[in-house]
Amino acid sequence: MAEIKPVKVQLSQGELEISSVKPGEARDVLEFMEKVSRETDYLIREPGELQMTEKEEKEYIEKQLKGERSIFIGARIGDKLVGTLGFTSPPFQRHSHRGSFGMAVSRRFWNYGIGTHLVRAMLNWAEETGIEKFSLEVDAENLRAIKLYRKFGFELEGILKKNKKMLSGEYRDELLMARFLKITEE
Ligand SMILES: CC(C)(COP(=O)(O)OP(=O)(O)OC[C@H]1O[C@@H](n2cnc3c(N)ncnc32)[C@H](O)[C@@H]1OP(=O)(O)O)[C@@H](O)C(=O)NCCC(=O)NCCS
Repeated sequence: MAEIKPVKVQLSQGELEISSVKPGEARDVLEFMEKVSRETDYLIREPGELQMTEKEEKEYIEKQLKGERSIFIGARIGDKLVGTLGFTSPPFQRHSHRGSFGMAVSRRFWNYGIGTHLVRAMLNWAEETGIEKFSLEVDAENLRAIKLYRKFGFELEGILKKNKKMLSGEYRDELLMARFLKITEE
């Protein structure tokens, strides 16, 4: 069962709670995902492309909670979901020491340390699970995210050239980054 120990932190905007997303939050998650895909083009989806029903989202959350090597973390201020981080590990033995994750924070709350708390919660959880390698793909122009990952010791593993094609026709490179445990946050 992959559930993190809840953490509470006082921010200037209110109390931030970091804990595993619960199945009852499926609707909030879908609304949050749609909102952030309208707020930034650093994610892989265009607005409206996430076609999951509330039932499917609930099943996804339940799966993440049941899995030994998966986690779905929410950041909330008051009763409002302001950030999420989802980590999944492949189902095969030879890749079971690793996995990849994606995350997002509501634009209004960028630069208040919420992303930092989400990544830290994931790495702390992983210390108990034996996950050794964390991978991600990030838009090469997404300097805020790259700064956040570097702060936690993520290294550049490669460049995926022209990996994103925007509606405007513009191509973007994506960076493959990875972090190997143990934690050494600067
Ligand atoms: C990337 C994201 C998750 C970061 O969340 P956040 O809560 O803003 O992150 P934090 O506040 O913890 O950290 C942001 C860091 O970037 C730095 N930063 C801010 N603007 C920056 C810029 N233009 N260039 C470089 N660094 C920048 C901040 O100073 C901070 O670093 P610090 O902790 O050393 O001061 C959030 O901006 C987001 O959701 N973006 C859109 C979706 C996205 O990009 N998801 C990641 C896909 S891989």
